[in-house]
Amino acid sequence: MKIKKAVFPVGGLGTRFLPATKASPKEMLPVVDKPLIQYAVKEAIDAGCDEIIFVTGRGKRAIEDHFDVSYELESQLEAAGKYDVLEEVRDIMPDHVTAVAIRQPRPLGLGHAVYCARKVIGNEPFAVLLADDMIYGGKNPVLKQMCDVFDEVQSSIIAVEEVDPTETHKYGIVKTELQNDRVGKLGDIVEKPLPENAPSNLAVVGRYILMPEIFDLLENLPKGSGGEIQLTDGIAALMQSQDVYSYAYKGKRYDCGSKLGYLAATVEYGINHRDLGDDFRLYLKEFVETLDD
Ligand code: UTP
Repeated sequence: MKIKKAVFPVGGLGTRFLPATKASPKEMLPVVDKPLIQYAVKEAIDAGCDEIIFVTGRGKRAIEDHFDVSYELESQLEAAGKYDVLEEVRDIMPDHVTAVAIRQPRPLGLGHAVYCARKVIGNEPFAVLLADDMIYGGKNPVLKQMCDVFDEVQSSIIAVEEVDPTETHKYGIVKTELQNDRVGKLGDIVEKPLPENAPSNLAVVGRYILMPEIFDLLENLPKGSGGEIQLTDGIAALMQSQDVYSYAYKGKRYDCGSKLGYLAATVEYGINHRDLGDDFRLYLKEFVETLDD
């Protein structure tokens, strides 16, 4: 089995980024010159996915439009001879990839958002990517790393990273039995535990490969932490009937759902940008010298 379908839950309210997210989706916030969601979709395509499924909510039309063909814009760019940008606009969605949008009627939680994709996914394993967790993996994007592990284990895989033990209440936290440097067999998973109740400081980040059996479990889940239907609780239920693996990914994550993480991503992607990088680095160096200690 190969992972061909990728689900992008984009139905959240983005309250940490208000008022910027009042009328436009968090996932459309740009990092340098591309919206967050475009980086995540590219990661999925580079990992071999060819069906993109957005689970959207109120005020998320801009995401669908971004991945739709814009004939008018393309012909205007062509007429103006702006071929470089035209190429970039066309590259957003390669021809072999299809995208569909499903509406999450109300933001009942990440577990509910994933459940909404059930009919489109059917009975095959699939990926879930949270676009606000932007992860730089260099030549080997994180979802590709996970698909390579999936080729071996043919079972659900959750991306994890170590966090400061005082921060466990912000994440799903796992207990895992390491099988090698990076892959472990999950023994426990808890949503947002206080540090004194956390089974470890290994936190779940926004990349998952899930077996389709998760849907039956999500369907019957009661509300969990924060009054939301939690994907973490669905994974905890899945663990009772099949192996679930953790994967300590190689890469650097930016929590772009928070203002500080978003600013860090903007600066670091700016410094490494093909066209702007050198100028921006110089600007930053000079600017930092003007700062007081
Ligand atoms: P977050 O916990 O980041 O929530 O959701 P949020 O609403 O996006 O942002 P804040 O915390 O209010 O600032 C994690 C992911 O789950 C999706 C979000 O879009 C985000 O990608 N999600 C969450 C849904 O798609 N639907 C939901 O009902 C809840």
